[in-house]
Amino acid sequence: MSSSANAGAARTVALGSNSTSGSVEAISIGYGSQATTGTQAIAIGSAADGTRAPVATGQGAIAVGSSNGAAVNGARASGANSVAIGSGDATHVGAEMDPIMSIAEARGITVIEDAAQAHGAVYRGRRVGSLGHIGCFSFYPSKNLGACGEGGAIVTDDRTIAEAIRRLRDWGQDGKYNHVLKGYNYRMDGIQGAVLDVKLQHLDRWTEQRRSHARRYDRNLADLGWQLPVPSRDQRHVYHLYAPLFANRDDIQARLHADGIATGIHYPKPVHLQFAFADLGYGAGDFPVAERFSRETLSLPMFPELTDSQIECVCDNIRAKGT
Ligand SMILES: Cc1ncc(COP(=O)(O)O)c(C=O)c1O
Repeated sequence: MSSSANAGAARTVALGSNSTSGSVEAISIGYGSQATTGTQAIAIGSAADGTRAPVATGQGAIAVGSSNGAAVNGARASGANSVAIGSGDATHVGAEMDPIMSIAEARGITVIEDAAQAHGAVYRGRRVGSLGHIGCFSFYPSKNLGACGEGGAIVTDDRTIAEAIRRLRDWGQDGKYNHVLKGYNYRMDGIQGAVLDVKLQHLDRWTEQRRSHARRYDRNLADLGWQLPVPSRDQRHVYHLYAPLFANRDDIQARLHADGIATGIHYPKPVHLQFAFADLGYGAGDFPVAERFSRETLSLPMFPELTDSQIECVCDNIRAKGT
């Protein structure tokens, strides 16, 4: 337990720096867990990066930060038996699910796993997306498995949840014109399914190509002293992005662009500094790790068709100009 851990009223626990627990049976763990309040609320911070996003409020709420916090800025849970889990947006390796599941299962809480850009990633021998009670995948065109328009999928082995989700995506209908839920128009176009059906057959090969490219980047950039996207031994990374942290990111990006090498920033502004979330009352300095990621992260070219010589060219270019 570190110096700034705080515990509030009866049966509260705070572990790690900056953790704060609120009232009855509240627990907060890890640097930056920020706060838990209410009955049986749990917030677990991002241990590696200390992002202070997790917030849990109310009965049976759990909020969990990811293991690598580039944009882990939104894990929040409120109300009875709700769970929010932030996934490692810039890593695409999925969250540390075993501790999350054991906490949730002990309390009968449903866990929604965000695997939006982690198609094919593996955690302790199991596919990401199948680890929680519900898994969510995005098929946005730029994803590892992307449609030619908007798309996504939810997976679950719970029949009741599956049935509810099928209804919710189609205006809450149970049979035609019989609305049993207040639903949405979230039906995916058939053409997207057809495209995905073909692309799915190539996904494993594309994933291996991404992983091979990442190893080449790792080898080329290892001695430059930057923070490279290295997964833990439990995780099989699928490298939706390859995004190291560079202290002088903006200079490097400008120089690469001048030489025709495209890069991206995922993402330049953390959620707590977005105008849309100003009502939450956070400001600059409140989430130092997320802010550092937004300043230093740079996504280098990464896609299956990338060639070895293109990777060498990117790395040579970075090296030639110094850092
Ligand atoms: C971690 C994560 N969750 C959710 C989403 C949202 O996916 P979609 O745009 O398909 O709704 C994304 C998209 O970038 C993501 O990276």
